[in-house]
Amino acid sequence: MAAVRFRGKNSFVRLLSGLAAAVVLGGVMAAAPHALVEPAAAATSPDPDSSRPVYRFWSEGYGNSHFYTLDYDDAQNLHSTDGWWTYEGTDFRVWPLENGSCPEATTPVYRFWSPKFTSHFYTVSGSEADALRQGDPNWDAEGVRFCAASEPGPGLTAVYRFWSSAFNKHFYTANASEAERLRTSDPKWAYEGIEMYAPTSGAASPPVTGEAAPRMGCQAPDMSSAIAAHDAARIVRLFGGAGTFRDAVASGRASCVPLDDPALPWVLVNKQNPVSPIDYVPASLTGGLRTEVAGSYADMQRDAAGAGAGSIGLTSGYRSYSTQAGIHRYQVGRLGVEDGERLAARPGYSEHQLGLAADVVACGGGGCGSLYDFAGTSQERWVRENSWRYGWIVRYEQGQTATTGYNAEPWHLRYIGTELARAYHDGGYRTLESFLGAPSAPNY
Ligand code: DAL
Ligand code: ZN
Repeated sequence: MAAVRFRGKNSFVRLLSGLAAAVVLGGVMAAAPHALVEPAAAATSPDPDSSRPVYRFWSEGYGNSHFYTLDYDDAQNLHSTDGWWTYEGTDFRVWPLENGSCPEATTPVYRFWSPKFTSHFYTVSGSEADALRQGDPNWDAEGVRFCAASEPGPGLTAVYRFWSSAFNKHFYTANASEAERLRTSDPKWAYEGIEMYAPTSGAASPPVTGEAAPRMGCQAPDMSSAIAAHDAARIVRLFGGAGTFRDAVASGRASCVPLDDPALPWVLVNKQNPVSPIDYVPASLTGGLRTEVAGSYADMQRDAAGAGAGSIGLTSGYRSYSTQAGIHRYQVGRLGVEDGERLAARPGYSEHQLGLAADVVACGGGGCGSLYDFAGTSQERWVRENSWRYGWIVRYEQGQTATTGYNAEPWHLRYIGTELARAYHDGGYRTLESFLGAPSAPNY
C-alpha cells in the first residue's frame, strides 16, 4: 500500500513540474509555478538530456529474440562480426549508469540471460529480479545495464512488455501502434504491461556503421528455401559446415531447423519424439532402406568385407508402423514391459519407420549370426570404428540408457548423413540426443 501511495504522490509532483516547464517555455516566467513547485520536487524528475537510445538487434536463429544494448562498442561489434544478429536501429531511450549507479529519479533495469530460452529479459522490478535470482534456475542475472523511469511523467513514453510462450521470448517496444497490433491481433504474444518509461528526447549515440557480418544460419537469405526443399546439405552449408551447424542446433541458435522432419537426416526420433506424422512411410525404398541411403549402406558393406572384417548382413531396415507394433508386442510379451521397451520401440517411435535405421548381423561360413551375438565380432568392431565414414552412427551405445531409453544395441545403425556423422565421430558424441542438444528421453 505504501508503495502505491508513494507512486501516486510522485506522479502528481512530476505532473506539476511538467506544467511548470510548459509555463516557462510559454514565456510566463514570473507567475504562480514557483509557488506550486518546490525546488526539491523538481530534482525528482529524471533528466532526459543524459539519456541515450538503445541499439536494438533481432535474431531469427535465436528464435525471434530481441536484444537491446546501450553500449556502442557492443552494438558495433555485434553488427560487424556476429552474423547471428541483425541490427534493427535504435529503439527507446534509457539512461546509462553513472559511476555504477542510476542517475537521480531513474530506476535500475536488471538484465537476465536464459541459456534455456536463449533470450534476455529486462525488468525494473526489484522484487521480480530477486525472485528470478533466488527461485528460477532458468535465468542468469547479468546485473544492471541501464536505467529507466519506473513511473509515467512528462517527456516520458511507455515501454510495453510482451511474453511469447510460443517463442519463449520477451519483447519490449515503445512503439504504441506496434504494441497495440501485438496486443489485439497476434496470439503468439501476451501483453504483460508497461515495464518502464523512456524519455522521448535526449543525447545522441554514435551510429552503428559499416557492412554487417554475413548472415549466418537461420538468417541466411537462402535458408527458408533450403528448408522448404528439405535440402540437408544446403542447410548445413548455410550454417558454415557440420560443426557449426551442430553447435548452433545444440545451443538454440537454429530455431528454424526442424528436428522432426523425416525428410532431413538428423530427424530425432526417441521416446519423447514420435515419427511425424506417426504413420509416415518413406517415399521410396531400395533394398529395405530409404533409397537415398541404400548406396551408402552398400558401400559400407563392401568396404567392411574388403577390409577383411567379414560379411555384414542387413536383418531389418525399414519397418512399417504395424510391423513395429508386432515387434513391440512380441518383445514386451517375452520380456515384460520394462525390459521389452528397453529393446523395442512402440509403434510410431522407431527409427526403423524412417527407413534410416539398419540392424546388421555378422555373416560367414554359410550363415549369419543373430543380433544378440553381433557384439564382439570382427564386423561389430569394424562398424563401430568405421560406420561414421558412410554417414551411419551406432545409435544405442553401452551406458547410454538414461539418455536413449534403450539398452545397448551394437547392431542398430542410424543414418544421419556423412558430414554430420563425421562431426559426431570427431566430437566424441555417444548419443544423437547429446549431439543435437536435445533432452534425454529415457521414458515415454
Ligand atoms: N530397437 C529399436 C530401439 C527400435 O525398436 O526401434
Ligand atoms: Zn534397430
